Amino acid sequence: MKKSHLENCGNWFLDRFPLTKLWNDHMAQYYAPKNFNFWYFFGSLALLVLVNQLVTGILLTMNYKPDAGLAFDSVEYIMREVPWGWLVRYMHSTGASAFFLVVYLHMFRGLIYGSFKQPRELIWIFGMLLFVALMAEAFMGYLLPWGQMSYWGAQVIISLFSAIPVIGDDLSLWVRGDYVISDATLNRFFAFHVISIPLILIMLVFLHIVALHEVGSNNPDGIEIKASKDPWGHPVDGIPFHPYYTVKDIVGVSIFIFFFATVLFYMPEMGGYFLEHANFIPADPLATPEHIAPVWYFTPFYAILRAIPDKFAGVIAMGGAIVVLFLLPWLDRSPVKSIRYRGGIYKKAILMFVISFLGLGYLGMQAPTAGATIMARIFTAMYFGFFLLMPIYTRWEKTKPVPKQLTDQPTIEDRIPGWKATFCEMIKEVPVQKDGETVMRKRPDTSGIINVLIRTAKNIKASLD
Ligand code: HEM
Repeated sequence: MKKSHLENCGNWFLDRFPLTKLWNDHMAQYYAPKNFNFWYFFGSLALLVLVNQLVTGILLTMNYKPDAGLAFDSVEYIMREVPWGWLVRYMHSTGASAFFLVVYLHMFRGLIYGSFKQPRELIWIFGMLLFVALMAEAFMGYLLPWGQMSYWGAQVIISLFSAIPVIGDDLSLWVRGDYVISDATLNRFFAFHVISIPLILIMLVFLHIVALHEVGSNNPDGIEIKASKDPWGHPVDGIPFHPYYTVKDIVGVSIFIFFFATVLFYMPEMGGYFLEHANFIPADPLATPEHIAPVWYFTPFYAILRAIPDKFAGVIAMGGAIVVLFLLPWLDRSPVKSIRYRGGIYKKAILMFVISFLGLGYLGMQAPTAGATIMARIFTAMYFGFFLLMPIYTRWEKTKPVPKQLTDQPTIEDRIPGWKATFCEMIKEVPVQKDGETVMRKRPDTSGIINVLIRTAKNIKASLD
């Protein structure tokens, strides 16, 4: 049969470029564990948010002016005059917060399932480099609207460099390009935010995925699926990434878009947490805002900085909080990966870590009172304790035997009847008088609620053992 021009064109291309091979190696014949759960949505969501940031960023750049005299007004112009400019800008600003939320959950997944452990250390290291690059990207991007918080936030953070002995003052002068934050700073931050760091991010994501596909994905059981293969050489507990996980990820993406759009259209500033109130006032080098706080995703690290009385020691502690994360693969000495087979100590340690991280995040947003500083010091000790004591407690604790193959766990569908029963337990029907008639109405049932709370507390306690 005669081939169409399109087919000939396609064959000409495929003879010169291994597109089919790439597709098969990384999608259609890439075998992923069959038990991916909710936590495995966040990798693909991080990719989605990255694309959102790149596309909306390019569109914003078309109307933004990186000039200290024009920047603030150009953002207002985008919001008011550019067709759909408000949407693009809010997609970008909400996207920044969504990026950190997704990445924090993605990292937490790694923590609970031991995805950073051998042989996935390099995936974790590339991930951590991504995290650092992401922080730099967000920090530099925040200066661009040239509002009060852009200006003073950058002022506070860059002045931290001056705490470094001997070279500190020269270093902060070099970073700013001036004695104060100025047009020179804005220009270089723009260059980094728009070109250099996005390129680094894209390159790191590529390396992250290549490293992942070399060793294969971990899973909620923390079992290496490559260890048991069928006669065709495929892992018995594996399923092709396409179509199984491409379809599953569409579900995650749809739910994510629902929440993202809700924030975008109904609360894009998120009460000052995503876009701070002071940033709606143009930068004024002569008027320091009363309370300078970074955006929420930086506040855990900012709280560690403020918890330490000495500025230089604070900078070291803040940097150390990120450095320990890099070292995680070598701090964890446990013979098992997943939290499902770890002992009670790791579970309690991880709970303390979560409390300390959220606590620090909250305190970093508040004005520094004496009480808040004490709490921040306690949380800082807990944060570092989790990591630095890890080589001891992960070696000590007794772990559970790990099965040879993936285990069956109840799915969300399986759990729905249980949730329904629990909900019904907390509600009772009471007779109510309406228009002279007695009708039955549903009301909260105090004793039912107490029973549910006690049972939940007992379940949580049991799951920590
Ligand atoms: C731009 C940011 C990032 C993107 C786009 C990204 C993307 C991905 C994707 C698509 C996967 C495979 C799907 C999945 O396992 O969820 C993955 C896996 C992984 N990522 Fe990331 N990631 C990012 C940041 C990070 C960070 C900050 C860390 C930790 C420091 C990290 C650690 C990991 C690990 C350990 C895995 C393997 C997980 C497993 O197999 O259980 N990633 N990443």
